[in-house]
Amino acid sequence: MKNTTETRRPKKRLLRKILLIGFALAALAITVGATYVGTYRPAQRPALELQVERTADRVERGRYLVENVTGCVQCHSDRDWTLYGGPAKKETWLGGGECATEEQGFPGVLCVPNLTPDDETGLGRWSDGEILRALREGVDRDGRALFPMMPYDDYRHLSDRDAAAIVAYLRTLEPVFNPRPETDIEFPVSFFIKTIPEPLAGPVEAPGPADTVRHGELLAKVAGCEFCHTPIDERHQPLPGMAFAGRPNPRGPFGTVHAPNLTPHATGMGSRSREEFIGIFKAFSSADNAAIEVEPQDNTPMPWADFAQMTEGDLGAIYDYLRTVAPVDNPVVVR
Ligand code: HEC
Ligand code: HEC
Repeated sequence: MKNTTETRRPKKRLLRKILLIGFALAALAITVGATYVGTYRPAQRPALELQVERTADRVERGRYLVENVTGCVQCHSDRDWTLYGGPAKKETWLGGGECATEEQGFPGVLCVPNLTPDDETGLGRWSDGEILRALREGVDRDGRALFPMMPYDDYRHLSDRDAAAIVAYLRTLEPVFNPRPETDIEFPVSFFIKTIPEPLAGPVEAPGPADTVRHGELLAKVAGCEFCHTPIDERHQPLPGMAFAGRPNPRGPFGTVHAPNLTPHATGMGSRSREEFIGIFKAFSSADNAAIEVEPQDNTPMPWADFAQMTEGDLGAIYDYLRTVAPVDNPVVVR
């Protein structure tokens, strides 16, 4: 009788060999893969070597964009949520915003950085070219990909003139000393975000003054209207065919509030006129209406007081553009 263990032995040895080779290959693949993942650098070009001239006009244009249009102030400042729309606190203007942490279910630590010219904790040591590149091309001084909560993908549409104006304005700010932890995003998210930055291919021009629809489209992007008013899936991607159709409950230090449908459908802006639309914003432009005290559950993430200072031309252009987006039947009850 054959000993079954004997017949098995050679097979066992073969199996062990196959397993060993398998392990070796897997280890090799992991090493190569990890090296690739670890050293993969986001697409980038060297920061431009230029110095933005700080003329009064340019600084004023930059102030307007940063405070009233592009939302930099809302993310990069500490905000007062006892007031309607959570205006930024003047003392720490652009000195750094909120932090997202693991305890809140975020994959790592991310504090919205200080944009004031403080040497230690702000942009004091950054060149103008480095700030421009971070703003529109999504990498920091060292070429690290910025977490895409920083909407550089939208800001890449800012014209060269407007981007330079923003830099000129940031340079005039009072430095705020505000040390915070460095951004630390966990794998695999850290890898995916490296694939997002994309260098600009050439100069970016603003649309001509007569093209209000295209101008409004650009404003709706850089002002975050599209972001807040478009529903997303669980991977934070905008739902196809639902642009501006209303977004359920963007989370924050306010009660449950849904962003309404801004499309031309009857469940959206319907027959609202251009004047009415501009009027909704302008209602918040007086000093009293820019500082309305509210309970947290009655607050809103929409920075009404900041947008109220947008020019009628810009608000009108946003309206003209919103009339051209696909009407979507989507009733939204705001509260
Ligand atoms: C929706 C929130 C949000 C808005 C709006 C926003 N940012 Fe940011 N920004 C961030 C976050 C978050 C980071 C940090 C990303 C990281 O570290 O990976 C950042 C990073 C930056 C950096 C890199 C600074 C550093 O120290 O690494 C610059 C420069 C910057 N933003 C400028 C701007 C400007 C200028 C505007 C307005 C035109 C703006 N941001 C609007 C969230 C925002
Ligand atoms: C941070 C998120 C956020 C941003 C950015 C944002 N919205 Fe809103 N918006 C909301 C929410 C939430 C509401 C509902 C609560 C309220 O009225 O404030 C709202 C309400 C509105 C309303 C309804 C007002 C009414 O009385 O019916 C209009 C119109 C509007 N947004 C237009 C815009 C436009 C245009 C922009 C860009 C310039 C914009 N929103 C940017 C979140 C946002």
